[in-house]
Amino acid sequence: MDPLLSYRERFPILQTTTYLINNSLGAMPGDVYQEMRSYAGIWAQRGVRAWGEAWWTLPVDVGDLVAPILGARPGTISMHTNVSTATAVVLSALTPTQAKNKVVTTALQFPSIQYVLEQWCLERDVTLEVVPADASGLGVDQQRLLEAIDDSTLAVSVSHAEFKSAYLNDAPAIARCCRAHDALLILDAFQSAGVVPIEVEQWGVDVCVGGCLKWLCGGPGNVYLYVDPEVAPRLQPRLTGWMAHPAPFAFENAPMRWRDDAYRFLAGTPQIACLYAASPGLKMHAEIGIPAIRAKSLLMTDALLDAAQARGWDVTAPLDRTVRGGTVAVNAPHGELVAKELNDRDVVVDFRPGAGIRIAPHFYNSVDECQFAITQIDEILQTKAYEKHTSVAGATPT
Ligand SMILES: Cc1ncc(COP(=O)(O)O)c(C=O)c1O
Repeated sequence: MDPLLSYRERFPILQTTTYLINNSLGAMPGDVYQEMRSYAGIWAQRGVRAWGEAWWTLPVDVGDLVAPILGARPGTISMHTNVSTATAVVLSALTPTQAKNKVVTTALQFPSIQYVLEQWCLERDVTLEVVPADASGLGVDQQRLLEAIDDSTLAVSVSHAEFKSAYLNDAPAIARCCRAHDALLILDAFQSAGVVPIEVEQWGVDVCVGGCLKWLCGGPGNVYLYVDPEVAPRLQPRLTGWMAHPAPFAFENAPMRWRDDAYRFLAGTPQIACLYAASPGLKMHAEIGIPAIRAKSLLMTDALLDAAQARGWDVTAPLDRTVRGGTVAVNAPHGELVAKELNDRDVVVDFRPGAGIRIAPHFYNSVDECQFAITQIDEILQTKAYEKHTSVAGATPT
């Protein structure tokens, strides 16, 4: 008996659906209802006193729940609303010079982050070096990526697991290379934290960003920003606000002064309601431990890859376990329409053009559910049940 299946009863949606879309939005823990009631309760009963009694420290208190999942120490993580702005906060602390005038990223980096990097570089006449995808299109040649990082590199922005293929970049090697060239690493762990072990402190990662809404079952508006406490004092974010000031209630006029701790990277009034939703998922992941989640995830992705290959479908995911994240996209025929029919049947997945039907099981799923999704695809293809749907590729969130 798989002990992790005992967690299923804690997730309402698992009672009615085969929920396999955890790379997009993780299932909501039932305890979130209670958390949201607490939020409304303190606001209703305590009014403005809620700030002092519970709310002001919440962006760092929730960060402390993320810390064990990233391999970070308490007090090093602040919570933000999305990775695009968290990345912009970090970039706002950097000053290019003649000697340091290059930012490195990859062609597989999440597009929103590419937009932020591109605009930041354009405005400052900084070179943005985009390392292309390798021949398979799934990942990036790691040697080529490391060679792109040199003494002129100011910052490097890469994902730990690529969002399209879940391919794992060699984060420890990239971190070592960044330190050797005095380049600031901004590691995006959105698609890995919660399903793949991460050790930011041990690996020497300067900055790690990502969100709780996918693999950490924490809902939108919960994005973490880890900054190595040795690196943090060197960064003075220009995208800032009074939460980052050492005496916010003194309402001092500018010039800005920054706190020395994780609050340094905050700006204005935080997203309190969202932060309430994050804790049940984070506590559950810490309780189970990421190594156990990873071991089970590999069994499920193995099963998906075997089943897809047995049917002759292409897969968008590494076969090699050591570089595979938690998602497998199977390129079955009529994938977009088949995915719609799967959703009508409460097998919740999505479709990405060029990748296929994305299936992303988490610790509360089972190999049986993965196999059920595959046999449903068989049945939909055999009966042509997909024919009742029409194509509008690319309309759903990531
Ligand atoms: C790797 C990665 N980075 C970033 C994002 C999203 O960034 P943001 O929080 O700015 O919407 C996603 C997906 O939503 C992602 O998969």
